Amino acid sequence: MKTHNNVTDRVKRAPLRLLGGLGLAGVVLTMTALAADNAAPQASASMSELMTRIVQPTSDAVFYVSRTPPQSDDDWRQLENKTLMLAESANLLLIPGYLRDQDQWIRDSLLMRDAAVAAYKAAQAKDLPALEELNNALYESCENCHMATR
Ligand code: HEC
Repeated sequence: MKTHNNVTDRVKRAPLRLLGGLGLAGVVLTMTALAADNAAPQASASMSELMTRIVQPTSDAVFYVSRTPPQSDDDWRQLENKTLMLAESANLLLIPGYLRDQDQWIRDSLLMRDAAVAAYKAAQAKDLPALEELNNALYESCENCHMATR
């Protein structure tokens, strides 16, 4: 009797479980779609904020590296952090919201990224002369883009 009840219950519940399963699949699909939407990179601030809050302080670390050369491991570590931030901020110049549809813009962003990645590697190698040498290429990327856009 008990067994029979259980079977009947299970049969009765089957459509419900199917609906539940479909509902769950729907939720999962919706969440996947939302995640895909939200995963698209988008600007979190204005161009001016990106420049003054991230690009300027991190690039200053490279421009003025000779003035106060890193001494301790911690100094070098800070410089690694800043040059990596600078390199990644060049990538941000290429996402929707910051990106401008100009070949020049893309060239200058890539120039900035290359110089910053090289600076990151130089900081990792504690190579002061290499960092000083990268100043020009980095400066050129800022100036080129500013002259073309401002
Ligand atoms: C691909 C283009 C591009 C590159 C590369 C670039 N900038 Fe800029 N920068 C801009 C634009 C556009 C503005 C104007 C932003 C605004 O006011 O809306 C700007 C503005 C600035 C400002 C003024 C911000 C303010 O509101 O006062 C500073 C400082 C600055 N950039 C520093 C730098 C430095 C340093 C570099 C290089 C390490 C650099 N930028 C590289 C496009 C660029």
